[in-house]
Amino acid sequence: MAELKYMPGFGNECVSEDPRCPGALPEGQNNPQVCPYGLYAEQLSGSAFTCPRSTNKRSWLYRILPSVCHKPFKPMDQGHLTHNWDEAEAEPNQLRWKPFEIPRASEKKLDFVSGLHTLCGAGEPKSRNGIAIHIFTCNTSMINRCFYNSDGDFLIVPQQGKLLITTEFGKLLVEPNEICVIQQGMRFSVEVFGETRGYMLEVYGAHFELPDLGPIGANGLANPRDFLVPVAWYEDRQVAGDYTVISKYQGKLFSAQQDFSPFNVVAWHGNYTPYKYNLDNFMVINSVAFDHADPSIFTVLTAKSTRPGVALADFVIFPPRWGVANNTFRPPYYHRNCMSEFMGLIKGRYEAKEEGFQPGGGSLHSMMTPHGPDAECFEKASKARLEPERVAEGTMAFMFESSFSMAVTTWGLKTSNCLEKTYYKCWEQLKSHFNPSCK
Ligand SMILES: [Fe+2]
Repeated sequence: MAELKYMPGFGNECVSEDPRCPGALPEGQNNPQVCPYGLYAEQLSGSAFTCPRSTNKRSWLYRILPSVCHKPFKPMDQGHLTHNWDEAEAEPNQLRWKPFEIPRASEKKLDFVSGLHTLCGAGEPKSRNGIAIHIFTCNTSMINRCFYNSDGDFLIVPQQGKLLITTEFGKLLVEPNEICVIQQGMRFSVEVFGETRGYMLEVYGAHFELPDLGPIGANGLANPRDFLVPVAWYEDRQVAGDYTVISKYQGKLFSAQQDFSPFNVVAWHGNYTPYKYNLDNFMVINSVAFDHADPSIFTVLTAKSTRPGVALADFVIFPPRWGVANNTFRPPYYHRNCMSEFMGLIKGRYEAKEEGFQPGGGSLHSMMTPHGPDAECFEKASKARLEPERVAEGTMAFMFESSFSMAVTTWGLKTSNCLEKTYYKCWEQLKSHFNPSCK
């Protein structure tokens, strides 16, 4: 695979030209009467035209043919993609899933779109307020097919197998332990290299941004320069009515045929782009005295709601780090939360549950559903000698934390056949240590 080119950029104005066509970007204006090389100019807006400058998002694409050249969209098979949050009964219990199974290509061919399965979510794309969590399992590349989301943004977390994602802005190679964000409307096609699995957080109505740092100061957590944006790349490829453009629109899939590859953008500029980030670059901050900071200290990206301090969803990671807190029960504390917490594991063993929670699986602790370390972890951590120790070495767990009370789909509860029936038992062995005569 040829080396791919990236530039740093998180919401910055970037400029990019495919090196095969120097000077393809018009100089001094966005939409000249005639563009260099006979290209068409097309704006992709990611915010209302009138948003304040700090949140205004748009890019200008200079392409061989504009996106409008396609046959009408028609409904297509939904597979296991849904935003019908009423299809199953409400489920307030702690839920945990074994690794989601990836079919072999010889049994069932699935590409990134046909391999999407909605696990849980809430809210509504029509009113642009909500989230969905999807699992993708695939074994086949998308051939002459591209996908875009009219409803919101995708944050993609590969867990097994790398993704070579061709976008209108260029190519992104995204490997496990990296994430990428494909924002609303951006067309992309995913090439895979074997059995591939991962998690996807969809937000309707807000873009992901870096969290504010407050007293942390100017540096820390995910630094803007570590977010990489692709460099322009185009193909001038005719496919005679056989290229399929798939749109997720109002929660449903639609397809339209066209005669050419949509990856025909020779140059672009703007601050509305796909991007990727390597989780190893996260600068971890935590207590160096006693007790815990709340897990919000591990927030990589947040999609804010309109309520101050409340996210539609945060993407939070639990990376390798030092544990040094004195006189402290160091694993995550027992708690009940007014937010919903979906967790996944990219690799390794999660400290609060060394068994049971496996890479490629997941757990959901819903609103006010109690959770915390299992009995074995509690006993071990209560007696441990508190020396500086490496925590989560070789591990990368993450959380999609949301202010929405999420419904679980029928696929999540039944069809996937991955839901554990006995998860609650991991807390059954917790015993009372209470002794009123001994402090
Ligand atoms: Fe939690």
